[in-house]
Amino acid sequence: MDMKRFVGQVAVVTGAAKGIGAAAALRFAQEGANVACMDVDRETNEATAARIKQDCGVDTLAIYCNVADPESVKQAFDQVLQRWGRIDVLVTSAGIYTGSPLADVSLQQWQRTIDVNLTGVFLCNQAVAPVMMKQKSGSIINISSMAGKTSWPGTMEYSASKSGVIGLTRSVAMELAPYGVTANAVCPGNTLTEMVKGVAEQVGARDGMSAQEWLAMRANDCPMKRIAEPWEIAGVIAFLASQDSRYLTGQAIEVDGGMVMS
Ligand SMILES: NC(=O)c1ccc[n+]([C@@H]2O[C@H](COP(=O)([O-])OP(=O)(O)OC[C@H]3O[C@@H](n4cnc5c(N)ncnc54)[C@H](O)[C@@H]3O)[C@@H](O)[C@H]2O)c1
Repeated sequence: MDMKRFVGQVAVVTGAAKGIGAAAALRFAQEGANVACMDVDRETNEATAARIKQDCGVDTLAIYCNVADPESVKQAFDQVLQRWGRIDVLVTSAGIYTGSPLADVSLQQWQRTIDVNLTGVFLCNQAVAPVMMKQKSGSIINISSMAGKTSWPGTMEYSASKSGVIGLTRSVAMELAPYGVTANAVCPGNTLTEMVKGVAEQVGARDGMSAQEWLAMRANDCPMKRIAEPWEIAGVIAFLASQDSRYLTGQAIEVDGGMVMS
């Protein structure tokens, strides 16, 4: 990595233990940022933070944080501020996938998905807003999904949570724009992570396909004829935190190989 755009900055990444969050945490560290990794998966999160510290030589913190729990979020962000006293970048990648036909979605399933995927993003945005407003700088990158812009049968609570993230991001962007703080959503297409492997097994089984067959079908549906790698999403996330995107706010950007064009 030749470019080092974030030297001395502080990036907070939720869902940093795995997948897109882990790739984003690594990318910010490679470009010189100190990184706070937040996740509910303590062991994997600690391993991710330790690997980043070793490979990139930046300061890292692995913090347990359940983004759906206001007290947990408060404690986690307090730890970041105690360590570094500032937050330049927030990436909200913590998320879960649930999906069932409408008749089978329990209220509990609906609530849990909304709590993690939407309330979790709200709580983290609320935690960083006063810090960034005071600094008069900062970038918020909320991870939505192509499911936030379009939908399929049997994925209503996930899709609703991800559309909600786009609406939330627009309002945050409006409110923070006068302070020089940007807020954007990233809407990934199918990206090869544990989440998508789980979806491939679950939805594949429902549709009489192996996980591999389901992934091949999704790759074939995509104009680029392949599924994304997490680092390809991380590159766009990093752009949205860089100096090159200071006049870009309130947008929901598809990074999906051309699946959704709007
Ligand atoms: N993989 C894809 O194809 C895809 C596509 C579109 C959007 N997304 C979104 O990207 C984000 C990352 O997904 P991924 O594919 O990397 O998934 P992943 O399952 O690989 O990683 C998600 C991480 O979030 C953590 N997490 C879950 N619940 C949490 C909670 N309550 N508090 C804190 N951490 C929690 C998990 O422990 C995990 O480490 C999610 O918001 C997901 O909805 C993924």
